[in-house]
Amino acid sequence: MTQKVIGILTSGGDCPGLNAAIRGVGKAAHSLDMQVLGYLDGFRGLVENRFKRLDSYALSGILTLGGTILGTSRDKPYRMPVGALGTMDMTPMAVENYHKQHLDALVCLGGGGTQKNALHLMKQGLNVITLPKTIDNDVAKTDVTFGFDTAMGVATEAIDRLHTTAESHHRIIIVEIMGHNAGWLALGSGIAGGADVILIPEIPYDIDKVAEAVLHRSRIGKRFSIIAMAEGALSREESAARGKGKKKKKKQAEEQAECSTESVSLKLARRLESLTGLESRVTSLGHLQRGGSPSPADRLLATRLGTACAQLLSEEHYGVMVAARGEKCVPVPLEEVAGKRKIVPLDHSWIVSARMVGTSFGD
Ligand code: F6P
Repeated sequence: MTQKVIGILTSGGDCPGLNAAIRGVGKAAHSLDMQVLGYLDGFRGLVENRFKRLDSYALSGILTLGGTILGTSRDKPYRMPVGALGTMDMTPMAVENYHKQHLDALVCLGGGGTQKNALHLMKQGLNVITLPKTIDNDVAKTDVTFGFDTAMGVATEAIDRLHTTAESHHRIIIVEIMGHNAGWLALGSGIAGGADVILIPEIPYDIDKVAEAVLHRSRIGKRFSIIAMAEGALSREESAARGKGKKKKKKQAEEQAECSTESVSLKLARRLESLTGLESRVTSLGHLQRGGSPSPADRLLATRLGTACAQLLSEEHYGVMVAARGEKCVPVPLEEVAGKRKIVPLDHSWIVSARMVGTSFGD
C-alpha cells in the first residue's frame, strides 16, 4: 500500500492548543505510516501551495507553545483578497494544489468559519476532516473547543486581580471579554472570578437593572462591583434595534457590530457612573486571552482530538468534524456543524448556578 499524504492547516483566529493539536494529529499520523504536510497561513497556504513538511523534528517541542507554528489567516478559499484584484474565488487553485501534492486528505483546525470553508472544499470532492478550536467555545455539536479553557483561565485571573483594586477604590470595574456572538467565555470566567454582574449576548440587559445590582451592593456595604461583559453584550434597546436590522440585512448588521470601534464597555461605564454615582473603569482583555501557553486541559483535549483525527484518517472516514463528547471523541458530519453556532442556552446550568449565588445578568 502506498503511504498516505495528509495536509493540515490552521485557520481563523489563533488560540492556545493549536500546536498541541497539530502535534497530536501529526505524531499519530506518523505512527500510522502517513506523511504530513503543514499548509501555511490557513487556506491561503493551500491556494498558494505554500507548505512545510511536518516530520518528527518539526513536531517536537511544540506541545506547550501558544499560537500556531503554521501561521493562520481568516481567508476563505471562495472569497480571497488578491491584491489589486480585490477578492476572488480561489477554490480551483486550492483543489489543484491538493491534487498536485497527492493529498489523501486535508485536516482543517478552526472555528465556525473554518467548518464552513472545509465543507465547501468537501463539496469540491476533497477529503476533509476538521477539529474544533476557538476561545469562544461556540462550535456546534462538540461539548467544548480547545483554546477555551486557557482563555477562561486568563480572564478569570484578570477578574481576580481587578477585584482588589476595585475594592480599594470603591469603583465599578467592567472587564470586557472576547465573544461577539456567544457569551461562554464571559460567563465561565465571570462565574469562576465571582463577578457581580455578567453580561452576555444571549441575555440583553436592562441598564437600570445593572445599576440596581450595583447600588444594592453599596447599600449592603460593598462599595465596589465587578462586571464581566462579553464584547457582544447588548442592551435591550440595542437588541430590539438589531432585531429590526436583522429583518432587513442580518449579515450587514452583524458585520457592522463587529467592525464598530465604539467599546460596549466604555459606553456602559459612562452610563453606570451617572446612574450610580460610583466611579467606573474599564479593562478590555483583548488578545491577551488568545496568547500564551495552553492550559493542561487544552493540551489534553487537543491531543485527544488530534489523535482521534489520525485514527479516522487511517480509516478513511472523511467529511467530519472530530467532536468532544464526554470522554469520547466522535465524528460528526460536517453538514451538521457548518453554519451553526453553539450559543449559551438560557436555561444552561452555569446560568442557573450563577443566579443562585446572586449574580445579576441585568435582566
Ligand atoms: O473568533 C475568536 C475571537 O477571539 C473572537 O472572540 C473575537 O471577537 C475575534 O476572534 C477577534 O478577532 P481578530 O483577532 O481577528 O481581531
